[in-house]
Amino acid sequence: MMIDKRLIRTVRESKKYIAWNVIYQWISLVANITMMVSIADLLSRLFANTADRENFVCTVIVVAAAVGIRYFCAVQSAKMGYLSSKAVKKVLREKIYRKLLRLGSSYKEKAQTSEIVQISVEGVEQLETYFGAYLPQFFYAMLAPLTLFIVLGFVNVPAAAVLLVCVPLIPAAIAAVQTWAKKLLSKYWGQYTALGDTFLENLQGLTTLKIYRADDFKNDEMNVEAEKFRKITMKVLTMQLNSITIMDLIAYGGAALGIVMSVTQYSKGNVSLAGCLLIIMLSADFFIPMRQLGSFFHIAMNGMAAGQKIFRLLDLPEAEEKKADCPKGDIVCRDLHFSYDNDREILSGVNMTFKRGAFTAIVGESGCGKSTISAILTGRNKGYGGSVSVGETELSEIREADLMENITYISHQSYLFKGTVRDNLLMGKPDASDSELWEVLERVNLADFVRNEKGLDTGLSEKASNLSGGQCQRLALARALLHDSPIYIFDEATSNIDVESENDIMNEIQNLAESKTVILISHRLVNVVKADAIYVMVNGKIAESGKHRELLENKADYEKLWEAQQRLENYGKDGAVQ
Ligand SMILES: Nc1ncnc2c1ncn2[C@@H]1O[C@H](COP(=O)(O)OP(=O)(O)O)[C@@H](O)[C@H]1O
Ligand SMILES: [Mg+2]
Repeated sequence: MMIDKRLIRTVRESKKYIAWNVIYQWISLVANITMMVSIADLLSRLFANTADRENFVCTVIVVAAAVGIRYFCAVQSAKMGYLSSKAVKKVLREKIYRKLLRLGSSYKEKAQTSEIVQISVEGVEQLETYFGAYLPQFFYAMLAPLTLFIVLGFVNVPAAAVLLVCVPLIPAAIAAVQTWAKKLLSKYWGQYTALGDTFLENLQGLTTLKIYRADDFKNDEMNVEAEKFRKITMKVLTMQLNSITIMDLIAYGGAALGIVMSVTQYSKGNVSLAGCLLIIMLSADFFIPMRQLGSFFHIAMNGMAAGQKIFRLLDLPEAEEKKADCPKGDIVCRDLHFSYDNDREILSGVNMTFKRGAFTAIVGESGCGKSTISAILTGRNKGYGGSVSVGETELSEIREADLMENITYISHQSYLFKGTVRDNLLMGKPDASDSELWEVLERVNLADFVRNEKGLDTGLSEKASNLSGGQCQRLALARALLHDSPIYIFDEATSNIDVESENDIMNEIQNLAESKTVILISHRLVNVVKADAIYVMVNGKIAESGKHRELLENKADYEKLWEAQQRLENYGKDGAVQ
């Protein structure tokens, strides 16, 4: 198919611009024909020595008018092209954006970030040409030869017929090329996004690569990908050049054939001199629009391939519209199962209860599935087995927006945005006053630092790289406190930061636990001593649970872990005594 109906349906608004674009081009064609008729007439009169002043003046007026009309039409049709491009960009980017919002926080399960960036920037840009240039040209390229055929039909039918018959050879050639071009182009896009993925990842990890001196290795790896991409790009270009050559051969060959026909008809006396001249002057115009279509064709094909990718994203299944609000009540996991892929189960039958208003902790060695649980509770991991209920409602039935209002999640790597301290804090509570902002900054012991900088207008660079790890986490906690939700989940929120920050943050979490439901995930047991309930996880299962004292008395996993950590913490102190 040379037209993607779904694309046109998606951007309905573009229809009227395309129609007007075709109309202006057609008016321009009619003006051109009129001009040529007038010139051919004048030339034949000159040849016959019957031209007078009046003929000259008349031709000059017609030519001037035609040129004026053509100029006006060219400007208008460019404007229509621009308007439809604009509509396409707006509609498609908005659709992609809305889709991502609907996919929600779990979008990464289904699509890669770099691919989304590529299709919504370049992919959409390619479609601009499809709508702005290709589609209008498609219709005009059919209308123009028919119009010329009708006009020249009055002059000489055989010549007009020969020209008309040659025109479809161009799309036939295009169609022949298209069959394998389509496969090639979708491969091209695949290669392009693959390169994009690698590039984005390597760029983000460049510091790490430098540290481990792995940059050369990654460099080679990317060279291989880039080489693949170069090869396929050259293939695409070769195909485009070859098909342009074929189209040129048909276009000029067809025009030449028309000229030969008209001269033959003239020599047989079947057509006047003016008619013969007119056919000669207009024969190329039969082919130019189709030829032009051919040159847009490859961009359009590329756009259509991009369109397919966009539709694949837009067609990703979404969770059905959920109705339920997040109820107030305990969070209970019953026989919870989860796996990221089919071959390995990460959670195998977890039962746990997070009582409303209580302080519950999950501990366990790295990799046992703690973060997986927090991702399920915050709706980032979908498709769990068993049940997770909040009050009486199943978690999967709760609207994501409402869930997000009720649960604040703070990980060990909270995302801070480029901007000011104020910008980042206001995300937690958009209508907070400055004094509220200062109050939370005091609570996390960051106020002095911020005051010594530029106050709430202190700038953060990308990912807050101008703050220390501890400062980042304090700021993230301040933002979380502003959010003021009934449930808070801290997932290793104090890992990898300085002891002082850890203590400040842990104190604040403990204060918070007096008024809120707090779920604390930590591998450091000193942080969970005061918890109302502690779940000890081993390999995706709950090994034991209880309060700190009870677990110590159990003399099982928890006690072993506790002893090991105590030994480690007291190592220096013991050494000093001995
Ligand atoms: N996105 C993911 N895709 C596949 N496997 C994952 C993913 N995230 C975590 N895992 C695996 O799930 C297991 C549990 O991970 P996680 O819940 O992060 O552990 P913890 O937070 O207890 O250290 C690990 O073995 C890890 O390899
Ligand atoms: Mg974790």
